[in-house]
Amino acid sequence: MSKKGLFITLEGGEGTGKSTQVKLLHAALAAAGVDALMTREPGGTPQAERIRNFIIQRDAGHFDPLTEALLMMSARREHLVDKIWPSLEKGQWVISDRFADSTRAFQGYGMGLGQETIDKIYALVAGDFQPDLTFVFDIDPEVGLKRSMKQLAVTSNATESTEDRYERMGLPFHRRLRDGFLEIARHFKNRCVIIDATQDIQTIHRQLLQTIAARTGVTAKEAQHG
Ligand code: TMP
Repeated sequence: MSKKGLFITLEGGEGTGKSTQVKLLHAALAAAGVDALMTREPGGTPQAERIRNFIIQRDAGHFDPLTEALLMMSARREHLVDKIWPSLEKGQWVISDRFADSTRAFQGYGMGLGQETIDKIYALVAGDFQPDLTFVFDIDPEVGLKRSMKQLAVTSNATESTEDRYERMGLPFHRRLRDGFLEIARHFKNRCVIIDATQDIQTIHRQLLQTIAARTGVTAKEAQHG
């Protein structure tokens, strides 16, 4: 793949506000004339969204951690082949709400699969492809979980099965997750920037734009939330 665009990922535990930041970032870049698209994982293409639908719902039940990592990576392969790589080749920027660091954190650290296994599957699925820039949103999991459950209550209704499978995994799981993400940020320090997710929305948005300006030379005016 000859990559011309830039691949930016936003990562972190639950309730960090990163989905809001994906939208703001996209709006700011579009206004600055950058041809960028927003996407998410698991999902991002029709086939990958099908995989998402059965893994992250509350009633999905229990999967062996390796099975779960393989499902996440299968969705990722569809996403890469069908959307991420063709878009980057065309010169578009791709902003993704989660990518492979989520598998490293959730399945690798949270579910205890370990990084070596994930590295092997990732190499098969993506080769040596990596994001150019990753924002790791960090928050105390107790605060994040409360924010996330509140958000889910707003977006779901009583008859619908909800996407809260990971929110229900308990605090020790979410503590491992936070430590995992911080470890990942240290390990991939050239591409990862840790964001204090307790700050207000506009402050975080400005930090993202400043980082992008410093690394790429592309300057964008901040977009307004709401
Ligand atoms: P979302 O809540 O940010 O939309 O993400 C969906 C859930 O899927 C979230 O709880 C994290 C989880 N997830 C994994 O466990 N492994 C992965 O590789 C990805 C991309 C997401």
